[in-house]
Amino acid sequence: MIIDLNNKLKIFTTAMLFCIASLSVNAETAKSAQANDKSVAAIKSVDETNAQTTAQTKAQIKAMKITNKSFNCMREMTPVRHFYVDNLLGDIDSTLAAANAPKGAIYPVGSVVQLVPTEVMVKRELGTSPATGDWEFFELAVNEKGSKIAKRGFVDVKNRFGGNCFACHLPAKKNWDFICESGHGCDPIPINHKMTGALQRSDPRCGEEALESGDSMALFKLKAMVTIGLTKKWLAETF
Ligand code: HEC
Repeated sequence: MIIDLNNKLKIFTTAMLFCIASLSVNAETAKSAQANDKSVAAIKSVDETNAQTTAQTKAQIKAMKITNKSFNCMREMTPVRHFYVDNLLGDIDSTLAAANAPKGAIYPVGSVVQLVPTEVMVKRELGTSPATGDWEFFELAVNEKGSKIAKRGFVDVKNRFGGNCFACHLPAKKNWDFICESGHGCDPIPINHKMTGALQRSDPRCGEEALESGDSMALFKLKAMVTIGLTKKWLAETF
């Protein structure tokens, strides 16, 4: 990305030098007046493009102000296989294209990805956090009233079991833009898709639960695992 930025800078500087050079050369030719008009128009259009880009970036940053209200019922997002996606800037088509790219792709800015109601990845503005591929990690507390951001950040956010989001997702960096799914290089988690599905169908922010057969059992098993996990953690921390 830095290389990309450098390249862009190089192209931009070359273009500017070219404009300036053509301005001075044109001034000396017979057709200078006409050519000058053209160059001035070219510079003006560069200025306009710059102004547009700045306005766009500003709008993007403003649009990307992420608060508790940015996260709602996860089943209102768009399903992809066993998880859900959205785009905070409205560009859901590009997010879907990345999620469905057979060999993986870089997700566009604004993308939101969720497997369970309480853990979210959001693709921030380009260059925000090169280490995490500009993904910001969120741990939410959710209930029927809505969401509360419990933790957010880049390389050091941990989920409630003490696992570092970034560290677990890092093996999927190449090709898959940190999205683990299955077979993207991440170590598997002990929670299967029946359980994540049951969590999605019982997201308290969605109103009525939409449980399928077997969901209650999956949730029960999950709860037991969480309790055992948390007890283990508590024991480890206490003794
Ligand atoms: C112990 C390792 C581990 C930790 C810690 C972890 N994840 Fe994941 N995460 C995974 C794996 C593995 C998957 C894929 C699970 C599957 O689909 O079977 C996954 C799936 C996801 C997904 C769905 C997209 C994908 O990558 O498949 C999101 C979003 C996500 N995790 C966010 C987070 C956030 C946010 C945190 C921290 C608050 C976090 N994860 C912590 C391992 C982890």
